Amino acid sequence: MLVLIAATLLVSGLATAAVTGDERPMDPENNLAFQWGPCDPAIVEDPSISCSFFEIPLDYHDRSAGTGRVAVAKANATTERFGTLFLNPGGPGASGLAALDQLGSTVLSLTGGHYDLVSWDPRGVGPLTIPGDIVCFSSVEEYNTFWNGTIELTGIEMTGNFTDPQDIDALLSQAPLMQKKYEELGERCLQQPSGKYLKYVGTAATVRDMVAMANALDGAKSPINLFGLSYGTVFGAWFINMFPERVGRVVLDGVLDPILLASEETTTFWPKQLMDADKVYDAFVTGCALAGPDGCSIATQGRTPADVDANIQTLLQRAHDAAHKNSSVPVTSADIRAQLGSAMYSPDEWATFANVSYPQAVDAVDAETSGGVDSRAVKRQGLRKRQNSDPDAVIYSGQAIECGDSVNRKGTTMDDVFRGIISSSRTSSHLLWPNPLAYCPFWPVRAVERYQGPFNQKLSNRVLVLSNTYDPITPVSGARALVELLGEDASLVLLNGFGHTTVEPSQCLNEIISAYFVNGALPEDSTVVCEVDADYEVFTGIDTEAILAALVS
Ligand SMILES: *[C@@H]1O[C@H](CO)[C@@H](O)[C@H](O)[C@H]1NC(C)=O
Ligand SMILES: *[C@@H]1O[C@H](CO)[C@@H](O)[C@H](O)[C@H]1NC(C)=O
Ligand SMILES: *[C@@H]1O[C@H](CO)[C@@H](O)[C@H](O)[C@H]1NC(C)=O
Ligand SMILES: *[C@@H]1O[C@H](CO)[C@@H](O)[C@H](O)[C@H]1NC(C)=O
Ligand SMILES: *[C@@H]1O[C@H](CO)[C@@H](O)[C@H](O)[C@H]1NC(C)=O
Repeated sequence: MLVLIAATLLVSGLATAAVTGDERPMDPENNLAFQWGPCDPAIVEDPSISCSFFEIPLDYHDRSAGTGRVAVAKANATTERFGTLFLNPGGPGASGLAALDQLGSTVLSLTGGHYDLVSWDPRGVGPLTIPGDIVCFSSVEEYNTFWNGTIELTGIEMTGNFTDPQDIDALLSQAPLMQKKYEELGERCLQQPSGKYLKYVGTAATVRDMVAMANALDGAKSPINLFGLSYGTVFGAWFINMFPERVGRVVLDGVLDPILLASEETTTFWPKQLMDADKVYDAFVTGCALAGPDGCSIATQGRTPADVDANIQTLLQRAHDAAHKNSSVPVTSADIRAQLGSAMYSPDEWATFANVSYPQAVDAVDAETSGGVDSRAVKRQGLRKRQNSDPDAVIYSGQAIECGDSVNRKGTTMDDVFRGIISSSRTSSHLLWPNPLAYCPFWPVRAVERYQGPFNQKLSNRVLVLSNTYDPITPVSGARALVELLGEDASLVLLNGFGHTTVEPSQCLNEIISAYFVNGALPEDSTVVCEVDADYEVFTGIDTEAILAALVS
Protein backbone atom coordinates (compact mmCIF):
# COMPACT_ATOMS: atom_id res chain seq x y z
CA MET A 1 0.00 0.00 0.00
CA LEU A 2 2.62 2.48 1.05
CA VAL A 3 6.01 2.84 -0.48
CA LEU A 4 8.16 4.08 2.31
CA ILE A 5 11.88 3.98 1.93
CA ALA A 6 12.45 5.08 5.48
CA ALA A 7 10.46 2.26 7.03
CA THR A 8 13.44 0.07 7.49
CA LEU A 9 14.20 -1.82 10.57
CA LEU A 10 17.71 -0.88 11.41
CA VAL A 11 19.26 -1.48 8.09
CA SER A 12 21.89 1.17 8.00
CA GLY A 13 22.68 2.71 4.68
CA LEU A 14 19.17 2.61 3.35
CA ALA A 15 17.85 6.04 2.61
CA THR A 16 16.79 7.98 5.62
CA ALA A 17 15.71 11.01 3.65
CA ALA A 18 18.12 13.79 4.43
CA VAL A 19 16.88 16.26 6.95
CA THR A 20 19.03 19.23 6.29
CA GLY A 21 19.47 22.89 6.95
CA ASP A 22 19.91 25.14 9.91
CA GLU A 23 16.87 27.32 9.43
CA ARG A 24 14.18 26.62 11.93
CA PRO A 25 10.70 26.00 10.59
CA MET A 26 9.54 28.60 13.06
CA ASP A 27 10.46 30.49 16.18
CA PRO A 28 11.62 27.98 18.79
CA GLU A 29 10.80 30.44 21.58
CA ASN A 30 7.10 29.81 21.20
CA ASN A 31 7.06 26.08 21.57
CA LEU A 32 4.85 25.54 24.60
CA ALA A 33 1.95 24.71 22.33
CA PHE A 34 1.69 24.29 18.61
CA GLN A 35 2.40 27.32 16.46
CA TRP A 36 2.07 26.25 12.88
CA GLY A 37 4.06 27.93 10.19
CA PRO A 38 5.77 27.08 6.93
CA CYS A 39 8.33 24.28 7.06
CA ASP A 40 11.95 24.71 6.09
CA PRO A 41 11.76 23.76 2.37
CA ALA A 42 15.12 22.05 2.69
CA ILE A 43 13.47 19.61 5.10
CA VAL A 44 9.86 19.37 3.94
CA GLU A 45 9.25 20.11 0.27
CA ASP A 46 5.48 19.79 0.16
CA PRO A 47 4.19 23.37 0.65
CA SER A 48 0.83 22.13 1.92
CA ILE A 49 2.54 20.78 5.06
CA SER A 50 2.89 23.04 8.11
CA CYS A 51 5.55 22.76 10.80
CA SER A 52 5.85 23.49 14.50
CA PHE A 53 7.83 22.62 17.57
CA PHE A 54 6.31 20.97 20.60
CA GLU A 55 7.93 21.08 24.01
CA ILE A 56 8.55 17.78 25.81
CA PRO A 57 9.94 16.88 29.21
CA LEU A 58 13.13 14.83 28.91
CA ASP A 59 11.86 12.45 31.57
CA TYR A 60 8.12 12.16 32.23
CA HIS A 61 8.82 10.74 35.69
CA ASP A 62 11.37 13.36 36.71
CA ARG A 63 10.50 16.82 35.53
CA SER A 64 13.70 18.18 37.04
CA ALA A 65 15.58 16.58 34.14
CA GLY A 66 14.53 19.53 31.99
CA THR A 67 12.84 19.88 28.65
CA GLY A 68 13.42 19.30 24.97
CA ARG A 69 11.27 19.70 21.89
CA VAL A 70 10.13 17.67 18.92
CA ALA A 71 9.91 19.03 15.36
CA VAL A 72 6.41 18.29 14.07
CA ALA A 73 4.82 18.41 10.63
CA LYS A 74 1.14 18.46 9.73
CA ALA A 75 -0.82 17.94 6.53
CA ASN A 76 -4.24 19.46 7.15
CA ALA A 77 -7.46 17.54 6.65
CA THR A 78 -9.06 18.46 3.35
CA THR A 79 -12.69 17.78 4.26
CA GLU A 80 -14.82 17.24 7.39
CA ARG A 81 -12.19 16.71 10.08
CA PHE A 82 -12.40 13.60 12.29
CA GLY A 83 -9.26 14.29 14.28
CA THR A 84 -5.51 13.82 14.07
CA LEU A 85 -3.86 10.76 12.57
CA PHE A 86 -0.30 10.28 13.76
CA LEU A 87 2.20 8.60 11.49
CA ASN A 88 5.24 6.73 12.82
CA PRO A 89 7.58 5.42 10.13
CA GLY A 90 9.73 3.30 12.43
CA GLY A 91 13.40 2.66 11.89
CA PRO A 92 13.94 3.31 14.72
CA GLY A 93 15.62 6.52 13.75
CA ALA A 94 13.54 7.32 10.67
CA SER A 95 12.44 10.94 10.25
CA GLY A 96 8.72 11.53 10.61
CA LEU A 97 9.05 14.88 8.82
CA ALA A 98 10.52 13.13 5.78
CA ALA A 99 7.91 10.38 5.98
CA LEU A 100 5.02 12.85 5.99
CA ASP A 101 6.60 14.78 3.13
CA GLN A 102 6.86 11.57 1.16
CA LEU A 103 3.56 9.95 2.08
CA GLY A 104 1.25 12.79 3.06
CA SER A 105 -0.80 12.93 -0.13
CA THR A 106 -1.12 9.13 -0.33
CA VAL A 107 -2.31 8.83 3.24
CA LEU A 108 -4.65 11.81 2.87
CA SER A 109 -6.41 10.15 -0.03
CA LEU A 110 -6.44 6.79 1.73
CA THR A 111 -8.16 8.39 4.71
CA GLY A 112 -10.65 10.42 2.68
CA GLY A 113 -9.01 13.69 3.76
CA HIS A 114 -10.74 13.35 7.15
CA TYR A 115 -7.66 13.60 9.34
CA ASP A 116 -4.93 16.08 9.98
CA LEU A 117 -1.84 13.93 9.41
CA VAL A 118 0.84 14.60 11.96
CA SER A 119 4.32 13.16 12.12
CA TRP A 120 7.45 14.21 13.92
CA ASP A 121 11.13 13.55 14.32
CA PRO A 122 11.08 11.58 17.56
CA ARG A 123 13.52 12.31 20.37
CA GLY A 124 16.96 11.15 19.24
CA VAL A 125 16.24 11.85 15.56
CA GLY A 126 17.02 14.70 13.18
CA PRO A 127 18.64 18.12 13.36
CA LEU A 128 15.66 20.02 14.80
CA THR A 129 14.32 17.84 17.59
CA ILE A 130 16.04 18.14 20.99
CA PRO A 131 17.48 15.71 21.89
CA GLY A 132 18.24 15.20 18.20
CA ASP A 133 20.56 12.94 16.29
CA ILE A 134 22.77 10.78 18.46
CA VAL A 135 26.30 11.36 17.24
CA CYS A 136 29.07 8.92 18.14
CA PHE A 137 31.89 10.11 15.87
CA SER A 138 32.41 13.74 14.98
CA SER A 139 33.96 12.82 11.63
CA VAL A 140 34.07 10.02 9.10
CA GLU A 141 37.85 9.87 9.52
CA GLU A 142 37.42 9.22 13.21
CA TYR A 143 34.89 6.51 12.40
CA ASN A 144 37.17 4.89 9.84
CA THR A 145 40.15 4.96 12.16
CA PHE A 146 38.16 3.52 15.04
CA TRP A 147 36.82 0.58 13.04
CA ASN A 148 39.86 0.15 10.80
CA GLY A 149 40.56 -3.51 10.02
CA THR A 150 37.41 -4.81 11.69
CA ILE A 151 34.33 -6.57 10.35
CA GLU A 152 32.40 -3.39 11.14
CA LEU A 153 33.89 -2.05 7.90
CA THR A 154 34.54 -5.19 5.91
CA GLY A 155 31.44 -7.16 6.84
CA ILE A 156 31.56 -10.84 7.61
CA GLU A 157 32.97 -13.08 4.93
CA MET A 158 31.03 -16.30 4.57
CA THR A 159 29.40 -18.35 1.88
CA GLY A 160 26.35 -20.58 1.74
CA ASN A 161 25.25 -21.21 5.28
CA PHE A 162 28.54 -20.48 7.00
CA THR A 163 30.16 -23.87 7.12
CA ASP A 164 33.69 -23.03 5.89
CA PRO A 165 35.96 -23.57 8.94
CA GLN A 166 38.31 -20.81 7.80
CA ASP A 167 35.42 -18.31 7.81
CA ILE A 168 34.22 -19.52 11.19
CA ASP A 169 37.70 -19.15 12.71
CA ALA A 170 38.10 -15.71 11.15
CA LEU A 171 34.89 -14.49 12.73
CA LEU A 172 35.32 -16.07 16.15
CA SER A 173 38.90 -14.85 16.42
CA GLN A 174 37.59 -11.25 16.15
CA ALA A 175 35.17 -11.71 19.04
CA PRO A 176 37.36 -10.32 21.87
CA LEU A 177 38.43 -7.32 19.78
CA MET A 178 34.90 -6.57 18.63
CA GLN A 179 33.50 -6.80 22.13
CA LYS A 180 36.10 -4.30 23.30
CA LYS A 181 35.32 -2.06 20.32
CA TYR A 182 31.58 -2.08 20.99
CA GLU A 183 32.18 -1.28 24.64
CA GLU A 184 34.45 1.59 23.59
CA LEU A 185 31.84 2.72 21.08
CA GLY A 186 29.33 3.12 23.90
CA GLU A 187 31.81 5.20 25.87
CA ARG A 188 32.44 7.39 22.83
CA CYS A 189 28.72 7.94 22.30
CA LEU A 190 28.40 8.97 25.96
CA GLN A 191 31.27 11.43 25.66
CA GLN A 192 29.79 13.24 22.67
CA PRO A 193 27.53 16.25 23.35
CA SER A 194 24.48 14.09 22.58
CA GLY A 195 25.67 11.48 25.11
CA LYS A 196 23.89 13.08 28.05
CA TYR A 197 20.60 12.44 26.29
CA LEU A 198 21.06 8.73 25.63
CA LYS A 199 18.84 7.63 28.51
CA TYR A 200 16.04 9.96 27.38
CA VAL A 201 15.68 8.56 23.87
CA GLY A 202 13.40 5.58 23.78
CA THR A 203 10.06 4.36 22.56
CA ALA A 204 8.11 4.68 25.83
CA ALA A 205 8.97 8.39 26.11
CA THR A 206 8.12 8.83 22.44
CA VAL A 207 4.70 7.28 23.11
CA ARG A 208 4.17 9.83 25.89
CA ASP A 209 5.25 12.60 23.51
CA MET A 210 2.54 11.54 21.06
CA VAL A 211 -0.08 11.42 23.81
CA ALA A 212 0.94 14.91 24.94
CA MET A 213 0.62 16.15 21.36
CA ALA A 214 -2.80 14.51 21.01
CA ASN A 215 -3.92 16.18 24.24
CA ALA A 216 -2.85 19.55 22.88
CA LEU A 217 -4.40 19.01 19.46
CA ASP A 218 -7.59 17.11 20.16
CA GLY A 219 -8.18 17.27 23.93
CA ALA A 220 -7.12 15.26 26.95
CA LYS A 221 -9.54 12.38 26.48
CA SER A 222 -9.53 12.27 22.71
CA PRO A 223 -9.11 8.95 20.91
CA ILE A 224 -5.62 8.74 19.39
CA ASN A 225 -5.31 7.54 15.81
CA LEU A 226 -2.06 6.06 14.54
CA PHE A 227 -0.49 4.59 11.45
CA GLY A 228 2.62 2.70 12.54
CA LEU A 229 5.02 0.95 10.18
CA SER A 230 7.86 -1.48 10.87
CA TYR A 231 9.46 -0.42 14.17
CA GLY A 232 6.49 1.96 14.32
CA THR A 233 4.52 -1.18 15.21
CA VAL A 234 6.61 -1.54 18.36
CA PHE A 235 5.75 2.06 19.06
CA GLY A 236 2.12 1.19 18.29
CA ALA A 237 2.02 -1.94 20.45
CA TRP A 238 3.53 0.00 23.34
CA PHE A 239 1.08 2.88 22.85
CA ILE A 240 -2.09 0.79 22.74
CA ASN A 241 -1.02 -1.11 25.85
CA MET A 242 0.30 1.88 27.81
CA PHE A 243 -2.82 3.93 27.00
CA PRO A 244 -5.52 1.35 26.17
CA GLU A 245 -8.30 3.85 26.98
CA ARG A 246 -6.96 6.29 24.38
CA VAL A 247 -6.95 3.91 21.41
CA GLY A 248 -8.74 5.37 18.42
CA ARG A 249 -8.20 4.06 14.91
CA VAL A 250 -4.83 2.34 14.80
CA VAL A 251 -3.25 0.54 11.84
CA LEU A 252 -0.01 -1.37 12.37
CA ASP A 253 1.81 -2.66 9.30
CA GLY A 254 4.90 -4.92 9.27
CA VAL A 255 4.72 -6.08 12.86
CA LEU A 256 7.42 -7.06 15.32
CA ASP A 257 6.28 -9.45 18.01
CA PRO A 258 6.25 -7.18 21.09
CA ILE A 259 6.74 -10.06 23.54
CA LEU A 260 9.81 -11.28 21.68
CA LEU A 261 11.30 -7.79 21.77
CA ALA A 262 10.53 -7.39 25.47
CA SER A 263 11.91 -10.77 26.47
CA GLU A 264 14.90 -11.49 24.26
CA GLU A 265 18.19 -9.80 23.70
CA THR A 266 18.33 -8.14 20.31
CA THR A 267 20.99 -10.59 19.21
CA THR A 268 18.70 -13.62 19.55
CA PHE A 269 15.63 -11.65 18.54
CA TRP A 270 17.11 -10.56 15.20
CA PRO A 271 17.51 -14.02 13.62
CA LYS A 272 13.84 -14.65 14.36
CA GLN A 273 13.01 -11.49 12.42
CA LEU A 274 14.74 -13.06 9.42
CA MET A 275 12.80 -16.32 9.39
CA ASP A 276 11.03 -15.49 6.11
CA ALA A 277 13.90 -13.64 4.43
CA ASP A 278 15.01 -16.63 2.38
CA LYS A 279 11.43 -17.17 1.20
CA VAL A 280 11.44 -13.64 -0.19
CA TYR A 281 14.77 -14.40 -1.82
CA ASP A 282 13.18 -17.52 -3.37
CA ALA A 283 10.41 -15.30 -4.73
CA PHE A 284 13.01 -12.97 -6.19
CA VAL A 285 14.93 -15.72 -8.01
CA THR A 286 11.63 -17.27 -9.12
CA GLY A 287 10.36 -13.99 -10.57
CA CYS A 288 13.70 -13.46 -12.26
CA ALA A 289 13.59 -16.92 -13.82
CA LEU A 290 10.02 -16.37 -15.02
CA ALA A 291 11.04 -13.06 -16.59
CA GLY A 292 13.95 -14.71 -18.35
CA PRO A 293 16.96 -12.88 -19.79
CA ASP A 294 14.82 -10.18 -21.41
CA GLY A 295 13.48 -9.02 -18.06
CA CYS A 296 16.19 -10.12 -15.64
CA SER A 297 19.86 -10.18 -16.45
CA ILE A 298 20.63 -12.79 -13.77
CA ALA A 299 18.63 -15.30 -15.81
CA THR A 300 21.01 -15.26 -18.75
CA GLN A 301 22.75 -18.51 -17.92
CA GLY A 302 19.97 -20.97 -17.29
CA ARG A 303 16.32 -20.20 -16.88
CA THR A 304 15.18 -21.96 -13.71
CA PRO A 305 15.03 -20.42 -10.21
CA ALA A 306 17.83 -22.81 -9.24
CA ASP A 307 19.96 -21.46 -12.10
CA VAL A 308 19.35 -17.86 -11.01
CA ASP A 309 20.24 -18.77 -7.44
CA ALA A 310 23.37 -20.56 -8.66
CA ASN A 311 24.47 -17.44 -10.56
CA ILE A 312 24.11 -15.32 -7.44
CA GLN A 313 25.86 -17.90 -5.25
CA THR A 314 28.72 -18.07 -7.75
CA LEU A 315 29.12 -14.30 -7.60
CA LEU A 316 29.11 -14.39 -3.81
CA GLN A 317 31.62 -17.23 -3.78
CA ARG A 318 33.95 -15.40 -6.17
CA ALA A 319 33.74 -12.21 -4.11
CA HIS A 320 34.42 -14.24 -0.99
CA ASP A 321 37.46 -15.92 -2.54
CA ALA A 322 38.83 -12.60 -3.80
CA ALA A 323 38.58 -11.18 -0.28
CA HIS A 324 40.42 -14.21 1.09
CA LYS A 325 43.27 -13.56 -1.31
CA ASN A 326 43.35 -9.81 -0.66
CA SER A 327 41.56 -8.48 2.38
CA SER A 328 41.49 -4.93 0.98
CA VAL A 329 39.37 -5.65 -2.08
CA PRO A 330 36.78 -2.89 -2.40
CA VAL A 331 33.71 -5.09 -2.84
CA THR A 332 33.20 -8.11 -0.61
CA SER A 333 30.58 -10.82 -0.54
CA ALA A 334 29.25 -9.12 2.58
CA ASP A 335 28.68 -5.92 0.58
CA ILE A 336 26.80 -7.78 -2.12
CA ARG A 337 24.74 -9.71 0.44
CA ALA A 338 23.84 -6.45 2.19
CA GLN A 339 22.71 -4.94 -1.10
CA LEU A 340 20.71 -8.03 -1.99
CA GLY A 341 19.17 -8.06 1.48
CA SER A 342 18.03 -4.46 1.22
CA ALA A 343 16.57 -5.08 -2.25
CA MET A 344 14.36 -7.76 -0.68
CA TYR A 345 12.49 -4.98 1.20
CA SER A 346 10.80 -3.79 -1.94
CA PRO A 347 9.79 -5.78 -5.05
CA ASP A 348 9.83 -2.41 -6.80
CA GLU A 349 13.63 -2.66 -6.63
CA TRP A 350 13.99 -6.22 -7.85
CA ALA A 351 14.27 -5.47 -11.56
CA THR A 352 16.70 -2.65 -10.88
CA PHE A 353 18.82 -4.88 -8.68
CA ALA A 354 18.85 -7.47 -11.46
CA ASN A 355 19.41 -4.99 -14.31
CA VAL A 356 21.85 -2.62 -12.69
CA SER A 357 23.30 -3.65 -9.33
CA TYR A 358 23.98 -7.26 -10.19
CA PRO A 359 25.92 -6.58 -13.43
CA GLN A 360 27.91 -3.88 -11.61
CA ALA A 361 28.75 -6.31 -8.83
CA VAL A 362 29.84 -8.88 -11.41
CA ASP A 363 32.13 -6.29 -13.05
CA ALA A 364 33.57 -5.30 -9.68
CA VAL A 365 34.30 -8.90 -8.73
CA ASP A 366 35.73 -9.62 -12.19
CA ALA A 367 38.10 -6.72 -11.67
CA GLU A 368 39.09 -7.97 -8.21
CA THR A 369 39.73 -11.43 -9.57
CA SER A 370 41.87 -10.08 -12.39
CA GLY A 371 43.72 -7.66 -10.12
CA GLY A 372 42.04 -4.44 -11.23
CA VAL A 373 39.77 -2.22 -9.21
CA ASP A 374 36.18 -1.41 -10.05
CA SER A 375 34.31 -0.38 -6.98
CA ARG A 376 31.85 2.10 -8.41
CA ALA A 377 29.00 -0.35 -8.02
CA VAL A 378 28.71 -1.51 -4.51
CA LYS A 379 29.15 1.08 -1.85
CA ARG A 380 29.80 -0.02 1.67
CA GLN A 381 26.73 0.17 3.78
CA GLY A 382 26.52 0.93 7.42
CA LEU A 383 27.59 4.52 7.74
CA ARG A 384 24.95 7.05 8.57
CA LYS A 385 25.55 10.70 8.10
CA ARG A 386 23.26 13.63 7.91
CA GLN A 387 24.03 16.95 6.31
CA ASN A 388 23.13 19.21 9.17
CA SER A 389 25.02 21.64 11.34
CA ASP A 390 27.75 19.04 11.61
CA PRO A 391 27.83 17.52 8.14
CA ASP A 392 30.62 15.09 8.92
CA ALA A 393 29.12 13.58 12.07
CA VAL A 394 28.34 9.86 12.13
CA ILE A 395 24.93 9.14 13.58
CA TYR A 396 23.78 6.23 15.72
CA SER A 397 20.20 7.30 16.41
CA GLY A 398 18.68 3.97 15.41
CA GLN A 399 21.05 1.98 17.60
CA ALA A 400 20.56 4.37 20.52
CA ILE A 401 16.78 3.94 20.44
CA GLU A 402 16.80 0.21 19.72
CA CYS A 403 19.42 -0.55 22.35
CA GLY A 404 17.89 1.88 24.85
CA ASP A 405 14.61 -0.06 24.50
CA SER A 406 16.19 -3.50 24.61
CA VAL A 407 16.39 -5.94 27.49
CA ASN A 408 19.53 -5.74 29.52
CA ARG A 409 20.79 -9.22 30.25
CA LYS A 410 24.28 -8.78 31.52
CA GLY A 411 26.98 -11.27 30.70
CA THR A 412 26.43 -11.90 27.00
CA THR A 413 29.77 -12.00 25.20
CA MET A 414 30.63 -11.21 21.61
CA ASP A 415 31.59 -14.86 21.24
CA ASP A 416 27.97 -15.75 22.08
CA VAL A 417 26.77 -13.18 19.57
CA PHE A 418 29.01 -14.50 16.79
CA ARG A 419 28.10 -18.12 17.44
CA GLY A 420 24.47 -17.00 17.16
CA ILE A 421 25.20 -15.37 13.81
CA ILE A 422 26.79 -18.56 12.51
CA SER A 423 23.95 -20.77 13.63
CA SER A 424 21.26 -18.40 12.37
CA SER A 425 22.88 -18.47 8.93
CA ARG A 426 21.94 -22.14 8.96
CA THR A 427 18.59 -21.99 10.67
CA SER A 428 17.05 -18.71 9.63
CA SER A 429 18.62 -16.93 6.66
CA HIS A 430 21.83 -16.99 4.70
CA LEU A 431 21.05 -13.55 3.33
CA LEU A 432 21.62 -11.19 6.20
CA TRP A 433 23.42 -11.09 9.47
CA PRO A 434 22.49 -9.32 12.63
CA ASN A 435 25.06 -6.54 12.64
CA PRO A 436 22.71 -3.68 13.60
CA LEU A 437 21.52 -5.30 16.78
CA ALA A 438 24.85 -6.75 17.82
CA TYR A 439 25.48 -3.42 19.58
CA CYS A 440 22.87 -3.79 22.24
CA PRO A 441 24.43 -6.23 24.74
CA PHE A 442 27.36 -3.83 25.01
CA TRP A 443 25.38 -0.58 24.93
CA PRO A 444 26.03 1.37 28.14
CA VAL A 445 22.59 2.90 28.67
CA ARG A 446 18.95 1.87 28.86
CA ALA A 447 16.06 4.30 28.48
CA VAL A 448 14.64 5.71 31.72
CA GLU A 449 11.36 4.00 30.82
CA ARG A 450 10.86 0.79 28.87
CA TYR A 451 7.45 -0.79 28.43
CA GLN A 452 7.66 -4.53 29.13
CA GLY A 453 3.98 -5.47 29.02
CA PRO A 454 1.25 -6.50 29.46
CA PHE A 455 0.54 -6.54 25.73
CA ASN A 456 -3.00 -7.88 25.91
CA GLN A 457 -4.85 -4.94 27.40
CA LYS A 458 -8.53 -4.42 26.66
CA LEU A 459 -8.60 -1.57 24.12
CA SER A 460 -11.11 1.25 23.74
CA ASN A 461 -11.27 0.62 20.01
CA ARG A 462 -10.42 -2.25 17.67
CA VAL A 463 -7.18 -2.00 15.73
CA LEU A 464 -6.19 -3.17 12.25
CA VAL A 465 -3.03 -5.26 11.88
CA LEU A 466 -1.44 -5.70 8.44
CA SER A 467 1.29 -7.97 7.17
CA ASN A 468 2.62 -9.34 3.94
CA THR A 469 2.57 -13.10 3.70
CA TYR A 470 6.31 -12.88 2.85
CA ASP A 471 8.16 -10.09 4.65
CA PRO A 472 11.96 -10.38 4.88
CA ILE A 473 12.32 -8.59 8.19
CA THR A 474 8.97 -8.58 9.99
CA PRO A 475 7.67 -12.08 9.32
CA VAL A 476 3.92 -12.63 9.36
CA SER A 477 4.36 -14.51 12.65
CA GLY A 478 4.86 -11.12 14.34
CA ALA A 479 1.46 -9.88 13.17
CA ARG A 480 -0.16 -13.17 14.17
CA ALA A 481 1.40 -12.95 17.62
CA LEU A 482 0.08 -9.42 18.18
CA VAL A 483 -3.39 -10.31 16.96
CA GLU A 484 -3.42 -13.37 19.19
CA LEU A 485 -2.55 -11.17 22.19
CA LEU A 486 -5.25 -8.61 21.43
CA GLY A 487 -7.96 -11.16 20.66
CA GLU A 488 -11.20 -9.58 19.52
CA ASP A 489 -9.67 -6.11 19.75
CA ALA A 490 -7.67 -6.68 16.55
CA SER A 491 -8.36 -7.68 12.95
CA LEU A 492 -5.63 -9.19 10.80
CA VAL A 493 -5.43 -8.48 7.08
CA LEU A 494 -2.72 -10.17 5.05
CA LEU A 495 -1.42 -9.01 1.70
CA ASN A 496 -0.45 -12.04 -0.35
CA GLY A 497 2.89 -10.77 -1.56
CA PHE A 498 6.44 -9.69 -0.81
CA GLY A 499 8.51 -6.94 0.72
CA HIS A 500 8.75 -5.13 4.03
CA THR A 501 5.36 -3.73 5.09
CA THR A 502 2.53 -3.88 2.58
CA VAL A 503 4.49 -2.08 -0.14
CA GLU A 504 2.91 -3.73 -3.17
CA PRO A 505 -0.23 -1.98 -4.50
CA SER A 506 -3.54 -3.58 -3.60
CA GLN A 507 -6.97 -2.11 -4.24
CA CYS A 508 -8.43 -4.70 -1.86
CA LEU A 509 -6.15 -3.59 0.97
CA ASN A 510 -6.65 0.11 0.26
CA GLU A 511 -10.41 -0.33 0.51
CA ILE A 512 -10.10 -2.05 3.88
CA ILE A 513 -7.81 0.66 5.26
CA SER A 514 -10.10 3.40 3.92
CA ALA A 515 -13.23 1.81 5.35
CA TYR A 516 -11.54 1.61 8.74
CA PHE A 517 -10.34 5.20 8.83
CA VAL A 518 -13.44 6.69 7.24
CA ASN A 519 -16.23 4.57 8.79
CA GLY A 520 -14.53 2.66 11.57
CA ALA A 521 -15.45 -0.57 9.77
CA LEU A 522 -13.34 -3.69 10.07
CA PRO A 523 -13.67 -7.00 8.22
CA GLU A 524 -15.97 -9.53 9.85
CA ASP A 525 -13.62 -12.44 9.25
CA SER A 526 -10.84 -12.90 11.75
CA THR A 527 -8.28 -13.03 8.95
CA VAL A 528 -8.69 -11.56 5.48
CA VAL A 529 -6.21 -12.15 2.66
CA CYS A 530 -5.90 -9.51 -0.06
CA GLU A 531 -4.14 -9.98 -3.38
CA VAL A 532 -1.69 -7.58 -4.98
CA ASP A 533 -3.16 -5.72 -8.01
CA ALA A 534 -2.80 -7.81 -11.15
CA ASP A 535 -1.51 -4.89 -13.23
CA TYR A 536 1.51 -4.44 -10.95
CA GLU A 537 4.57 -6.05 -12.52
CA VAL A 538 7.59 -7.03 -10.46
CA PHE A 539 9.63 -7.92 -13.53
CA THR A 540 8.52 -7.08 -17.06
CA GLY A 541 5.45 -9.22 -17.74
CA ILE A 542 5.62 -10.94 -14.35
CA ASP A 543 3.20 -10.07 -11.55
CA THR A 544 3.09 -11.15 -7.93
CA GLU A 545 0.46 -13.80 -8.57
CA ALA A 546 2.67 -15.51 -11.18
CA ILE A 547 5.54 -15.64 -8.70
CA LEU A 548 3.31 -16.96 -5.93
CA ALA A 549 1.95 -19.67 -8.24
CA ALA A 550 5.45 -20.71 -9.29
CA LEU A 551 6.66 -20.75 -5.66
CA VAL A 552 3.93 -23.14 -4.60
CA SER A 553 4.35 -25.50 -7.54
C1 LIG B 1 -3.13 24.06 8.44
O1 LIG B 1 -3.86 24.38 9.59
C2 LIG B 1 -3.21 25.27 10.49
C3 LIG B 1 -4.09 25.44 11.70
O2 LIG B 1 -4.14 24.24 12.38
C4 LIG B 1 -2.94 26.57 9.80
O3 LIG B 1 -2.24 27.44 10.68
C5 LIG B 1 -2.12 26.32 8.56
O4 LIG B 1 -1.96 27.51 7.85
C6 LIG B 1 -2.77 25.29 7.66
N1 LIG B 1 -1.84 24.96 6.61
C7 LIG B 1 -2.11 25.10 5.34
C8 LIG B 1 -1.00 24.77 4.38
O5 LIG B 1 -3.19 25.42 4.95
C1 LIG C 1 44.15 1.33 8.72
O1 LIG C 1 45.23 0.52 9.04
C2 LIG C 1 46.20 0.40 8.01
C3 LIG C 1 47.28 -0.58 8.40
O2 LIG C 1 46.98 -1.27 9.56
C4 LIG C 1 46.78 1.76 7.70
O3 LIG C 1 47.68 1.66 6.63
C5 LIG C 1 45.66 2.71 7.33
O4 LIG C 1 46.17 4.00 7.14
C6 LIG C 1 44.61 2.73 8.41
N1 LIG C 1 43.47 3.54 7.95
C7 LIG C 1 42.88 4.45 8.72
C8 LIG C 1 41.73 5.19 8.11
O5 LIG C 1 43.23 4.66 9.86
C1 LIG D 1 15.21 -4.32 -16.82
O1 LIG D 1 15.64 -4.76 -18.09
C2 LIG D 1 14.60 -5.24 -18.93
C3 LIG D 1 15.24 -5.80 -20.19
O2 LIG D 1 16.06 -4.86 -20.78
C4 LIG D 1 13.61 -4.13 -19.21
O3 LIG D 1 12.53 -4.64 -19.97
C5 LIG D 1 13.09 -3.59 -17.90
O4 LIG D 1 12.26 -2.46 -18.13
C6 LIG D 1 14.23 -3.18 -16.98
N1 LIG D 1 13.66 -2.79 -15.71
C7 LIG D 1 14.23 -1.88 -14.91
C8 LIG D 1 13.50 -1.54 -13.68
O5 LIG D 1 15.29 -1.36 -15.16
C1 LIG E 1 44.57 -5.55 -2.80
O1 LIG E 1 43.49 -4.72 -3.15
C2 LIG E 1 43.78 -3.34 -3.08
C3 LIG E 1 42.50 -2.58 -3.33
O2 LIG E 1 41.92 -2.95 -4.54
C4 LIG E 1 44.87 -3.01 -4.09
O3 LIG E 1 45.18 -1.64 -3.98
C5 LIG E 1 46.10 -3.86 -3.79
O4 LIG E 1 47.05 -3.64 -4.78
C6 LIG E 1 45.74 -5.33 -3.75
N1 LIG E 1 46.87 -6.10 -3.29
C7 LIG E 1 47.36 -7.11 -3.99
C8 LIG E 1 48.52 -7.82 -3.41
O5 LIG E 1 46.91 -7.44 -5.09
C1 LIG F 1 22.91 -25.21 3.84
O1 LIG F 1 22.51 -24.71 2.60
C2 LIG F 1 22.16 -25.69 1.67
C3 LIG F 1 21.86 -25.00 0.38
O2 LIG F 1 22.81 -24.03 0.10
C4 LIG F 1 21.01 -26.49 2.16
O3 LIG F 1 20.71 -27.51 1.24
C5 LIG F 1 21.35 -27.09 3.48
O4 LIG F 1 20.23 -27.73 4.01
C6 LIG F 1 21.81 -26.03 4.44
N1 LIG F 1 22.27 -26.66 5.62
C7 LIG F 1 21.78 -26.36 6.79
C8 LIG F 1 22.39 -27.05 7.94
O5 LIG F 1 20.87 -25.57 6.93
